[in-house]
Amino acid sequence: MDKLMDKMQEAAMYITSRIGSDPVHIGMVLGSGLGGLADELQDAVAISYKDIPYFPVSTVFGHKGKLVVGTLEGKRVMCMQGRFHYYEGYGMDQVVFPIQVMHALGINNLLVTNAAGGVNTSYKPGDLMLIVDHIKLIADSPMRGPNYDSLGERFFDMTNAYDKKLSALAREEAKRLGITLQEGVYMFFAGPSYETPAEIRAARILGSDAVGMSTVPEALAASHMRMKVLGISCITNMAAGILDQPLNHTEVMETGDRVKEAFTLLVRNVTKQWPV
Ligand code: 6GU
Repeated sequence: MDKLMDKMQEAAMYITSRIGSDPVHIGMVLGSGLGGLADELQDAVAISYKDIPYFPVSTVFGHKGKLVVGTLEGKRVMCMQGRFHYYEGYGMDQVVFPIQVMHALGINNLLVTNAAGGVNTSYKPGDLMLIVDHIKLIADSPMRGPNYDSLGERFFDMTNAYDKKLSALAREEAKRLGITLQEGVYMFFAGPSYETPAEIRAARILGSDAVGMSTVPEALAASHMRMKVLGISCITNMAAGILDQPLNHTEVMETGDRVKEAFTLLVRNVTKQWPV
């Protein structure tokens, strides 16, 4: 057995020792300001990242660092309350390690959420956006390096990286609940600066609707392992150069806070109907 597989196994075994061996149906990565959902799980067990073998530890203000496992709308879910970002200095391999551990625990469904900047000028801060595809032109792939054939193929397909049926489910539930759900392409930037106005114009020409500093590494790792992925962004602010005002992290957090009820409602209802 090789090194990554050993680390995944060891982390998974530790988590199992804390949560027991009942299957977990859905993994959830909760982005900036959206972590509160993890506090709503029933029969929750919380595990600090620092206690899990080989897990990195998160550092950013507003991001908590724990796994919370419990029941949401009848499904057993594992929430990452706080995620690892490339801009923090972690390698892409470290950023996606928790997703690989979820896979080792038998989880085949992943919800990824984030705060994102709106590039599409028809979006408004506070909109939710279904991620239908992504663009990553910068930074290395989390799958760079030796391929672990037992996880997935060397050259893996990304045509259906964001699951069509889960997307349809999210669309349906949003409509039923009266929640506006935009749809668009999420473009990864490495951060930690926000983009320049010129970079945002470029991003738009390239076909992106929103920009952010997360999610794409996790979606790549999940696709490699053929997990089903549903992605939802919260457009917390318009990207640089669209409005006549500078960007700041406080605005991102405040909008996340304002939208968290609608977001939570959507995620709860999608979870309830999620085929597992
Ligand atoms: Cl404008 N850019 C990036 N990269 N991430 C963001 C953002 C913008 N707004 C929220 N998160």
